[in-house]
Amino acid sequence: MQAAMTALSARVARTQLAATFAMAARARALKAGGHDVISLSLGEPDFPTPPHIIEAAFEAGRRGETKYPPLAGTEALKRAVQAKYAREQKLDVKLENILITNGGKQAIFNVVMSIINQGDEVIIPAPAWAGYEQTVQFAGGVPVFVPCLQSDNFVLQPETLEAAITPRSKLLLLNYPNNPTGAAASVADLTAIAKVLRRHPDIWVLSDDIYEHLLFDGFTYATLAAVAPDIADRIVTMTGVSKSYAMTGWRIGFCAGPAALIKACTVVQATATSGVSSSRDRLPQPERRVLCVPRHHWLLGQNHPGRYQAEQR
Ligand SMILES: Cc1ncc(COP(=O)(O)O)c(C=O)c1O
Repeated sequence: MQAAMTALSARVARTQLAATFAMAARARALKAGGHDVISLSLGEPDFPTPPHIIEAAFEAGRRGETKYPPLAGTEALKRAVQAKYAREQKLDVKLENILITNGGKQAIFNVVMSIINQGDEVIIPAPAWAGYEQTVQFAGGVPVFVPCLQSDNFVLQPETLEAAITPRSKLLLLNYPNNPTGAAASVADLTAIAKVLRRHPDIWVLSDDIYEHLLFDGFTYATLAAVAPDIADRIVTMTGVSKSYAMTGWRIGFCAGPAALIKACTVVQATATSGVSSSRDRLPQPERRVLCVPRHHWLLGQNHPGRYQAEQR
């Protein structure tokens, strides 16, 4: 076995599999053994995928929508995502700025692989989701964790960011609302971060907004590219359906960013997976505006998950 190990790439050898996978496997095994386990490993919503979504995907498959999809997503889905970004992210993006990905995770992978060269530093506000470190290691980058203190509501402070920046800094990973702390960034927080970034024009930003709908106490969501449009040409805003719509296993995410970077991300995606599975990407009927959701049109804002129980047929 030892000989086979030496044949593996340095890329794989230096990459630590996030501990959350092992935790999730252990929790599943314990549950299978009859134990009552509350697993705090993978970020799974505690409600099932709404049945109308499952039915629509089933219908799409029966209609034969099972062929290779376009690499970057169908035009109809990209249009729905474009409308969603305008409505919820307050971002005006063109179709060429959008990429549909196999889960939010692939958007992160695409961006990191498109930007990071060996030895480039990636600034990660901590505590952070374990997946970031793994992806940066895989790409040959150096994760630079910067502490976010409870006394600052776990939000990245401008002076902490400034102190972490070096000539090798290439990418900042922002994640608000945050996993694991739950911290959310206000417009004032994002404005302060943008002020630092203006002094460092060579740094890209990936804003991971996958938890955009998990807000409490009336907190209003905002995203960096909308707060600081003058630096939006180096920001990729990623989100998806995994958390908001309990679709973690469906593997659908999307991101919007500068066209040249999105094009590079498309090359990475073409190399790894191609487009997302077609029955999830195709529309059931032309007038149905969003992937596989015939009645509730959630991407158009008519089916907030919090209202789901009341609205389902
Ligand atoms: C902060 C964060 N970003 C991205 C992801 C990955 O999302 P997806 O399941 O859509 O790939 C997760 C999943 O737990 C996450 O917690």
